[in-house]
Amino acid sequence: MSKEKRKSVFNVAVVGLSGTEQIKGTSGVGKSCLCNRFIREEADNYYPDHTSVLSQSDFGGRVVNNDHFLYWGDVTKKDDNGLDYKFNVIEQTEFIDDQSYQPHRSSSNQLYVKRCAQTKISSAEKMMYICTDQLGIESDFDIKLMPEGKITIDGFIICFDVSFVNNRSIDDQVRFVQNVYHYLAKTKKPILFALTKCDEQVAPFVSEGTQFAASCGGKRSNGIPVVETSASENINVTQAFLTLAQLIDKSRSKTKIVSFDDAAHAR
Ligand code: GTP
Ligand code: MG
Repeated sequence: MSKEKRKSVFNVAVVGLSGTEQIKGTSGVGKSCLCNRFIREEADNYYPDHTSVLSQSDFGGRVVNNDHFLYWGDVTKKDDNGLDYKFNVIEQTEFIDDQSYQPHRSSSNQLYVKRCAQTKISSAEKMMYICTDQLGIESDFDIKLMPEGKITIDGFIICFDVSFVNNRSIDDQVRFVQNVYHYLAKTKKPILFALTKCDEQVAPFVSEGTQFAASCGGKRSNGIPVVETSASENINVTQAFLTLAQLIDKSRSKTKIVSFDDAAHAR
């Protein structure tokens, strides 16, 4: 690829097990925290609690905008060679009504697994999400709008939680991501598998996730790349997005994927 054609903006959708507590257990898989750590890395701007249980008015406000996805804003990162990569980040989740404890009704009635694979995304004048406290008092926070018109998603990050969570079995999570992968694969866009919460990892869950990723893409493929992340400890988060960008734009040289333990020691 010539230099002029080199891609400079990467639109990434972050997906993974989502839904009511019956589906995801007592905690989410870490999609919001991964996005938060990537977009606003500094300790002061990292919020560990991003609820998906919302009132009707918060669901209809300008940030959520009656969608089941969030626009996390954009950020520019550098790789080891000092090259810039600009990212727009979308989190695909499912918002739950705080009255009925059922998913909020939105314009799209598609199931999560199908909806999260959308590659053309638009939402009129949708505002960037920052944190739960922002909802309802948006003017007290930085305001940035999602780019106008349709955003084309260039690649996906599937989050796979390897920590122990009450009321969620590992088999259920594997089945869910199998289903998600089925729809994502149809888009032919690059996909990266991010193991989340590796600071609290359960070894057999790591194996489940790694095996699943290796089985993706059919017999002649080596599967999809796996990055072991921790949003709370800020380990391998930027690495996950950069690796995906390098799959999207093959003209970019690859940064080596470092294991969780090595990345933790290197700090
Ligand atoms: P929904 O959008 O509601 O489906 O959830 P989510 O996938 O966005 O999960 P979220 O990022 O909100 O994280 C859920 C919980 O996991 C929060 O209480 C986080 O504090 C915790 N968590 C997220 N990332 C990490 C991590 O890297 N390490 C640890 N130990 N906990 C984490
Ligand atoms: Mg979330």
